[in-house]
Parts: sequence; C-alpha cells; structure tokens
Amino acid sequence: MSDLLTTTEELRPFTWQDGQLLLLDQTMLPAREEWLAVNDVPGAGDAIRNMRVRGAPATGIAAAYAMALAARNIGPTAMPVFLDELDAQAARVAAARPTAVNLGWAVQRCRDVARMCGTPAQAAARILSLAHAMREDDIDSNRAIGRNGAALMPESGGILTHCNTGALATAGYGTALGVIRAAWESSKQVHVFCTETRPWLQGARLTAWELARLGIPSTLIVDSAAGALMASGRVGAVVTGADRIAANGDTANKIGTYSLAALAAANGIPFYVAAPFSTVDIDVQCGEDIPVEERPGAEVTSLGGHPIAAEGVDVWNPVFDVTPAALITGIITERGVLRAPYEAQLRDLARQPSVTEVA
Ligand code: MRU
Repeated sequence: MSDLLTTTEELRPFTWQDGQLLLLDQTMLPAREEWLAVNDVPGAGDAIRNMRVRGAPATGIAAAYAMALAARNIGPTAMPVFLDELDAQAARVAAARPTAVNLGWAVQRCRDVARMCGTPAQAAARILSLAHAMREDDIDSNRAIGRNGAALMPESGGILTHCNTGALATAGYGTALGVIRAAWESSKQVHVFCTETRPWLQGARLTAWELARLGIPSTLIVDSAAGALMASGRVGAVVTGADRIAANGDTANKIGTYSLAALAAANGIPFYVAAPFSTVDIDVQCGEDIPVEERPGAEVTSLGGHPIAAEGVDVWNPVFDVTPAALITGIITERGVLRAPYEAQLRDLARQPSVTEVA
C-alpha cells in the first residue's frame, strides 16, 4: 500500500482504518511513503521489532492497537479463556522491544480494561476505544510538552537534537522535536542541528525530513561531530527524548545521548530531556535497572544492504544508553518542567492520572 502525504498534512505514524492498523513504514522514509496494514499480534510485533514503527510513545500506542486486534481476533469464548489468551498475546507484544517502558505500560492498561468487561466483544470494543484515547492523549501531552519547553529554548541560534522524537516517534507533534517546533511556532529563530544517529539513521532520514516539512532550518551532522559543534559555540541548548525515565531521573534514550549530555556539561550547555509521563517508570529506581536492547551486529557492519566493515569483525550494538540524572538540566513533561533532584517530583506527579485514566 502506498500513498503520498501532502507536505502540509499533519504527520501521523499510524491510523486505524476499516478495522486494521495502518503503519507508515519508517524504514522506507524518506525515499518512499508506504503504508503497511497490520491485522494481528504477530504482524504488530514484527513491525515494532523491525523498526517500521519506532519511538517510545508511538510503539506504546501501536501496542495498544495490537491488543485491540488481539481481542477481536480471539473472538467469542468464555471470559476466563479470553483473558488467558489476551495475556499471552500481551506478553508477545510487550516483548517486541525491551527498553521503552511505553510498550509494557500500554499493554497493561489494555489488560486492566479487559478485566472490567463482561464479554470478549465488549472488551474488544473497550480496548479499541482506549487505544484511540491514548493516541489523542499523547498528542495533547506533546503539545503541552512543547508549550512547557519552548520557553527554555534560546531566542535564536542552534539547538542540537538526537535520533527522531517528532510526529513519527509519537502519536503526533513530537516530544523533543515538539519543543523545538513550539519554539519555532512562538517565533524563536532557532536552527536545529540533528545528528545522523547511527546505525538506523533516524536523524538523517526522519528528523531532517520532518524539519524540512515544517520549514524549520536545520543542519545534519555525523554523530561524532557533536563535540566540535558544541565547542564552536553554535549550540544554545541540547534537547532529546526518552525511552524510560527511572524514579531518580536517570534516563534511557537512543545510544549516543549520554555522550551528548557529557559533552553539553563539558561545554556549559543546558541539556534537556522531553518526554510524556507514559515514559516515566516509577517502579525502576535508577538507570542500572533499565534493560538496554542490543540488536544484531549486521546493523553496524552493513549500510543499505552493502557491507561496510571488515568481514567477521565482532560488534557490540546497544541501541540505547542511560544518561545519569546529574547531567540533565531539566526534564520537560506535560505536567511541568522538573529540575534536580527529580525523585520526589517524579513520584508526586506520577500519581496524577492521565486523561485516559480519568475517562
Ligand atoms: O530505536 P528507536 O528509533 O525507537 O529510538 C527512539 C528514541 O530513542 C527516541 O529518542 C525515544 O523513543 C523518544 S521518541 C519521542
């Protein structure tokens, strides 16, 4: 399935249409805009594992839609049998990628809703409504993150960001990129430096593309140019997303984030993390307890299907790292901007229900 997005259309990584989940295949961007139809849990699991949909909030909501598909596909049966099968499928969805807490968070909320229902049909309908509500809640949260973070961005000049945290990585608008977007929309004359983000090139392929669509000036750098760029005085702030924020504020995000935070500290540049509360894992005390996904070495030894490394070389390919809270100037959330020490504020704000939990 292929369909061209107009340049003015609000970018969304997925849509629910005619009883199926349509994913904008992010492995094809920016060369091709292809929509992938997903009808079951194995299809959703493959799409998440293979990075066709990626970014912590986007994978979380895609997981909720996967649960809606699972509930529908199980079909009419006794409620205890239905719940057992739903739990088994939930475990498969949650296992697709380990680091972002959003996957487990979304799946758990769907399991909770199912337990409040009398029949499988009712549960399937309620889970689908929940997935839609989570999608809208995420967009609202991102806009609030943008509003809260825009004020922290410089009036003009360079902002460095990493990986892709824009509309594609969320239900829409973006987190760190949402902050940059909100700063731009509030007339700040910002210039974005985006890192390539090896090995999947989310910065080069996705962030640069999103920024061009939005008309925000940007410059692409290779990951290893970040130190020289910061030392040149052209960066007023660094802002990245998060895959999981521990209770003490330690933050897991795309590999290379820790290096950027350390370089920002060395150069006296503020380093912000922007994320919705769905990314906070209050049950994990510190970064050491966050599971870090390691992916196949082939992702490093080849590029676009072409070998680029010595044959047989050993590879270590962790795709996330943990930035210690001490290196984070502030955590920008939809519930406000937090400053160190983070733990009491995170625990307090985590007790507030999200919009969809109230509904
Ligand atoms: O491997 P990815 O592309 O899923 O990694 C994405 C990131 O690390 C993002 O910074 C994070 O998920 C936040 S997205 C709003």
